[in-house]
Amino acid sequence: MSLARPCRAAITEVRRDLAAVRSRDPAAEGVSSLQILAAWPGVQALLAHRVASRLFAAGWRLPARMIALLTRSFTGIEIHPAARIGPGLFIDHGMGVVIGETAEVGADVTIYQGVTLGGTGFATGKRHPTVHDEVIIGSGAKLLGPIDVGRGAKVGANTVVIHDVPPDSTVVGIPGRPVRIEGRKPDGPDADWAHLPDPIADAMAALARRVERLESLQPADLLQSPEGQPQEVRPATLGGPSPAGG
Ligand SMILES: CC(C)(COP(=O)(O)OP(=O)(O)OC[C@H]1O[C@@H](n2cnc3c(N)ncnc32)[C@H](O)[C@@H]1OP(=O)(O)O)[C@@H](O)C(=O)NCCC(=O)NCCS
Repeated sequence: MSLARPCRAAITEVRRDLAAVRSRDPAAEGVSSLQILAAWPGVQALLAHRVASRLFAAGWRLPARMIALLTRSFTGIEIHPAARIGPGLFIDHGMGVVIGETAEVGADVTIYQGVTLGGTGFATGKRHPTVHDEVIIGSGAKLLGPIDVGRGAKVGANTVVIHDVPPDSTVVGIPGRPVRIEGRKPDGPDADWAHLPDPIADAMAALARRVERLESLQPADLLQSPEGQPQEVRPATLGGPSPAGG
C-alpha cells in the first residue's frame, strides 16, 4: 500500500491546524509554524488525536487509549479516540478540555480552555454533543448530552448547555438560553437571560441606601418619631435580675 496518499492528507490537515491557529489566535501573530507545533497544546492534542483515532478505527484500541492518556497528561486536553473531529478545530490554551466518545465536531470550530463536550449520566449510545461548523465555545462551557449546536453559534464562557442551540445564535447562562439569534435579541417577556436577578447584590444595594439615609440624618431627626413628633428621652437602665448572677 502506498503511503503517499495518507502522508499528503496528514500534511494538509497539519497545514489547516496551523492556519486555524494563525487566523484565530492573536498570540500567534508572527510566530513560525515550528514554534506553533512545539508550543501550542491544542495543535499537539489534535495531531495525537489523529493518530489515536486511526489506530482505534483499525482495532488497535489499547495503543489508541494510551496515546489519548499521554496526550492528556502533557496538554490537559482529553479527546476520546472515537470522537469525530472536523478540520480546522482550534483549541486555545487547552487545559481542562474534555471531548467524549460520541462527540462530533464540525469544521473550523473554536474551543477555549475548560470546555466539556460530555454526557449527562450513564446513558449508552450517542450521548455527547454534535457541534456544527464555525461554532465558538467559550472557556468553562459545559455542553451535555446528545444535543445539536447549530452552525455559527456562540456559547458564552461558563454556560451550561443542555438543549439544542439554534444556528447563528449566542447562548449564555445556566442553563444556556439564546440571547441573540442571527444578531437580534429574541422576542418575548422572558427573553432577557443575560441579566438574571442577583439577590445578594440587591440586598447589599438596599443596605447601602439605608446606611446613606441614616448618615444623612441630623441628631434632632433621631429624636423624632417617624410621624415627626418629638420623642421622650429616657436614660438607659438595666431591668430585671443582675446578669452577674449571685
Ligand atoms: C458569548 C461571546 C462569544 C460573545 O458573543 P456575541 O454574540 O458577540 O454576544 P455579545 O457580546 O453581543 O453578548 C450578548 C449578550 O450576552 C451577554 N454575555 C456574553 N457573554 C456572556 C457570558 N459568558 N455569560 C453571561 N452573559 C454573557 C452580554 O453581556 C450581552 O448582553 P446584552 O444583551 O446586555 O448586550 C463572548 O461573550 C464569550 O463568552 N466568549 C468566550 C471567550 C472566552 O472564553 N475567552 C477565553 C480566552 S482565554
